[in-house]
This record gives sequence, structure tokens and C-alpha cells, in this order.
Amino acid sequence: MVKAVIAGNWKMHMTCAEARSFAQSFLPLVSNLPADRTVVLAPPFTAIATLAEALAGSGLALASQNVHWEGNGAYTSEISAAMLLEHGVAYTIVGHSEPRKYYSESDEQINRRARAAQDAGLIPILCVGESDDQREAAETERVIRRQVEQGLEGLDPSRLIVAYEPIWAIGTGKTCEASEANRICGLIRAWVGFPEITIQYGGSVKAENIDQLMAQSDIDGVLVGGASLDPVGFARIAGYQLAVAA
Ligand code: 13P
Repeated sequence: MVKAVIAGNWKMHMTCAEARSFAQSFLPLVSNLPADRTVVLAPPFTAIATLAEALAGSGLALASQNVHWEGNGAYTSEISAAMLLEHGVAYTIVGHSEPRKYYSESDEQINRRARAAQDAGLIPILCVGESDDQREAAETERVIRRQVEQGLEGLDPSRLIVAYEPIWAIGTGKTCEASEANRICGLIRAWVGFPEITIQYGGSVKAENIDQLMAQSDIDGVLVGGASLDPVGFARIAGYQLAVAA
């Protein structure tokens, strides 16, 4: 069993002051978690330094919400791996459905980001997932297989997380059935061809469904959006399947 990775993607939420206040409430609630799980927070770029300071010595890890494939250059709005490493960032989300949708990110670009991240020593959290229309058209498996094959080309699967995030379940309150999420995560594992790869599920994860999701054989963690903004709720998620959870 690989170590579970419970990650909170804050998206475009949290000022530095809010991040500090989150950490103050959250850290005491997750100070005694078992060693079978890692808790990761992905704040917006502006709050990374603040959160790095607040999390120092806590055992929690930091992620960024993106990374560029070049080390530096004329790439307005982008961020490099070295800039993130300087703040102790360990993971980076790439290929999230929001940049795929709003900025037309391609599988090739996502692959370049993930490769640069690995080359620099960051662990990419590479997101894949089908839209509602694709699901309705029974294209889920074809779409995800393409995203996996193109997105993961040339990557080392032992230093990578794949997050299955069905787009229709993101921010909608509609969670994918745990058994269906598990089935797709199992397919992803087979397509990657590396049984030990860490595979997360994301999409309306909350305190009410975390235990069932984490009980699935092919789900090794979760990528949580909205529910990671509340320290008590996210501590409950991080404390999944523990009787003492908040
Ligand atoms: P929600 O948990 O808000 O549905 O968001 C999921 C997500 O996009 C995490 O990256």
C-alpha cells in the first residue's frame, strides 16, 4: 500500500492573512495523524512563502498550482520550479481541468510542465478527467487514456501522482460514485503500468464521503478543492477512518 496523499487545492482563494489564520486553526487538528498519510496544501503563489513559514516543522507539505517548463524567461504570469523550490514546495499540480479549460492547456504542454517539475525534483500531481458531455457520450475511458498516455510521456511514475478528477464532479457537489472512481483509478494504474503509482480522486470530496473513497482499493489519496478551505472540515478529511478525527 502506497502512502496516502491528502491534498488541498485552494485555487484562487486565501490572502496571506487568511492562510496564516487557516494554519493556526488547522495545525493543532492534524498534529497526531498516523504516518500512513501525507497532507499537502496548494495555496495561490502569493501565499506560498507565508504558508511555508507557518507549516515549518509540522510535517505538512506544500504544493504549487502550476509550474512552467522553462527555468526562466519571457513568460508573463508563469512560475518556475526553482522559484517554488526556494520556498520548500515539494509538489506541483499540472493539467488541472481549470487551466485546461480556461487557457486551453494541451496534453503536450502539461507533459512539458510535469517533466520540468520532475527534472527539478518536484512531484507533479497530474490531473486527468472527462467532461459531462464526454461522460454522456461514453467517452470517459478513451479521453482519460489519451490524457494519461500523452501527459505521462517520459515521466518517472515513481515520482508522480495522477489525480482522477471528473470535471462534472468539480465544485458541483456531485461526487463520482466511489466504486466508479475506483474503477477508473484502476484503469489508470493499468495504463501507467506501474502498480505502485499514487492515484488520487478529486471532485466534491468532503467529510461525508472521504471514508468511503479512501476505503477503495485503487484510490490512494484525494485532491480537495472547496472543502480544503475550512480548517476543521479539511482536518476531518485528513483524519479519514480514524475514530479520533475532528
Ligand atoms: P472541489 O473539491 O471543490 O469539487 O474541487 C476539486 C478540485 O478541482 C481539486 O483540484
